[in-house]
Amino acid sequence: MLRSIFQDPKGNIFMYEAKKFEGIHALDGISEKTMTEHYKLYEGYIKKANEIMEKLANVDKSTANQTYSDLRELKVELSFALGGVKHHEVYFGHLGGSGGEPTGGLAKMIERDFGSFENWQADMKQTGLAARGWVWLAFDWDTGRLFDYLGDSQNSYPVWNCSLLVALDTYEHAYWMDYGTGRAAYIDAFFRNMNWKVVEKQFDQMASMMR
Ligand SMILES: [Fe+2]
Repeated sequence: MLRSIFQDPKGNIFMYEAKKFEGIHALDGISEKTMTEHYKLYEGYIKKANEIMEKLANVDKSTANQTYSDLRELKVELSFALGGVKHHEVYFGHLGGSGGEPTGGLAKMIERDFGSFENWQADMKQTGLAARGWVWLAFDWDTGRLFDYLGDSQNSYPVWNCSLLVALDTYEHAYWMDYGTGRAAYIDAFFRNMNWKVVEKQFDQMASMMR
């Protein structure tokens, strides 16, 4: 029987399961082929996260070593796999809308911290051109402000004590089939397909914890 570090006392094993994202198959400017292939990568991260967690349940911790050890390698690659799971769930989850601008508390906070929605969009696009993997709009609970963080891969460089609101995938797999090297045009398409209702809901849940 497979064992997991997330096995409960009754023997039930927690395993990540791939979610379905109905909104990602009819996008404006991002092809069905791109999204189908992209979803396969997400499924791969789920599979590897589960595989690594199973191996961690049986790893020999007595050989732990910072230069090389099974424990080290499994934990490093777990951060890559889980980043791939979590970031893609946010990315796919807020695609499938008709773009435009957010409303309510989210809109007010974007305006407060970036000056205007247009300023935020420009900042995210420019950060997206500077990133090798991701841009994350996140709320930092320490500063109480929003910021567009840059990531070069699934596990670099998330920042602690932040809540993720928007994830823009800038890996080539997200746009190469549709735009070649034209990443800027892909980012424009990303904005056109944003479902702000999803982000607003996430923001409102987060805001309710501020009180
Ligand atoms: Fe991706």
